[in-house]
Amino acid sequence: MGCLISFNTNNLQSIQTDILVIGSGVAGLMAAIEAAKYGKVLIITKDNLRECNTEIAQGGIAAVLSTNDSYSAHIQNTLTVGDGLCNEEAVKVLVEEGPSRVRELIEFGANFDKEKGQFLFTQEGGHSTRRIIHAKGDATGTEVEETLIAKAQLQENIRILEHTFTIDLLCEDNVCYGALVQLKDKRWVIFAQQTIIATGGIGQIYRETTNSITATGDGMAFAYRAGATLMDMEFIQFHPTTLYIAGASRALISEAVRGEGGILKNKYGERFMLKYHPSLELAPRDVVSRSIITELKLTDDSHVYLDMTHLDKKLLENRFPNIMRVCLSFGLDIRKDLIPVRPTAHYTIGGIKTDINGQTTIDRLYACGETACVGVHGANRLASNSLLEGLVFGYRVGHSAGTATNKIESFPNISNTIDDRYIEELNIEDVRNSLKSLMWRDVGIERERDKLLAGQKEIDFWSSYVLRKESTTQAGFELQNLLTIARLILQSALRREESRGVHYRKDFPQKNDVEFKRHIELGIRKH
Ligand code: SIN
Repeated sequence: MGCLISFNTNNLQSIQTDILVIGSGVAGLMAAIEAAKYGKVLIITKDNLRECNTEIAQGGIAAVLSTNDSYSAHIQNTLTVGDGLCNEEAVKVLVEEGPSRVRELIEFGANFDKEKGQFLFTQEGGHSTRRIIHAKGDATGTEVEETLIAKAQLQENIRILEHTFTIDLLCEDNVCYGALVQLKDKRWVIFAQQTIIATGGIGQIYRETTNSITATGDGMAFAYRAGATLMDMEFIQFHPTTLYIAGASRALISEAVRGEGGILKNKYGERFMLKYHPSLELAPRDVVSRSIITELKLTDDSHVYLDMTHLDKKLLENRFPNIMRVCLSFGLDIRKDLIPVRPTAHYTIGGIKTDINGQTTIDRLYACGETACVGVHGANRLASNSLLEGLVFGYRVGHSAGTATNKIESFPNISNTIDDRYIEELNIEDVRNSLKSLMWRDVGIERERDKLLAGQKEIDFWSSYVLRKESTTQAGFELQNLLTIARLILQSALRREESRGVHYRKDFPQKNDVEFKRHIELGIRKH
């Protein structure tokens, strides 16, 4: 498939580093901090350091930190929600190494909410016990991100470059030598002994999403172009409760609200989850999201309501200060008003295939966090396991990349040629908006063959002129990445002719273990 632009590394300015980390969320920062014990690390990020999904994460971090909890319970909850597709070795690593990583984060300076010196645990769907720690009420992600940024900035071995967009990896014969990047209008080459991708998910491919504007699947797309294998791309998690008000930026209303007793109601004031699952509002997310969609059809409405009015007012003020502030800014008081909500795209379960040390199918190339797929979430992610994944696998990847031996002494010359440049008339925003609408309509919570095929045809058509042209802007590259990933999501969604986890096929509503208890892998080269 090649790269997005024409270049020749001999003709570009270059710098060298031991470890290149692309992305600055929890996984990337954790990887960088660990790798910096062994060599020079360069972190590059396409926006400012804080603009990522980690910063806006609310719920918390699930980890076995209470004497009433056990590894086996957390493992079992993760496997059950993962619906038969989890990599059990990776789940064990996640759960058993999780508490040490959380303690390390606390040593770095993170403060989690406590009462009388004890963690205040909350509950979310799929967990058999209260095991989720949180910070500043509902701003856990901000606490994690700020702590890791401060720690990274203190490391002499870490250099950080913001607003630096990675166009493509520099790969040859299945070995990665770094990346080709663009800062403002200037392009240059970063040669690295080891490269770590931690660029986050693909939420921006959907019209409705909780994700940061940076979540355009860049890492998955450039890894795919370089020949890496991607896995489980059909599994996109939809969060059941996002604020649904015209003009609101689809702000997340944390599952922890339901964990503290929030109730879902339809427009007639009925607690509809009673009809759908014995765990009611704390059923796994895919179940709650689909129940909401069914209820919307039954009641001919565009949203349902989250009712917190019966909960203790002080609890709401202390636990959910941000949610309260956002709702108040739209004239809604969570202490008195019902909050309109509906599901939106939230988390990319699939991604770049890795082993439990973050090694991809390309030498000297690692991936961690939401952009990676180690199989820890299976077909559905357990709530609040994602910050934990970033901490645990970010650390492991940083360690693997940092301690890797076999140094490259001289980097090869790499080049690529594209014949076709962008026609001036191409309206990037128009194609992007059309793609987001199509994905929302045809590749959303409920899927079926005819719609998937129609969506695929349309996206293939857009790709036929957008992907073969050479772009010059970040917006153009992002569009090309979004289209690349859309095609992979569609291919996988069409192939999985069953319903499992977050992937629901109306035309194949049952799980089919005989044919589909396996991962769907996509790649342009055989390994
Ligand atoms: C939430 O606060 O509901 C989000 C937590 C998560 O996505 O794990």
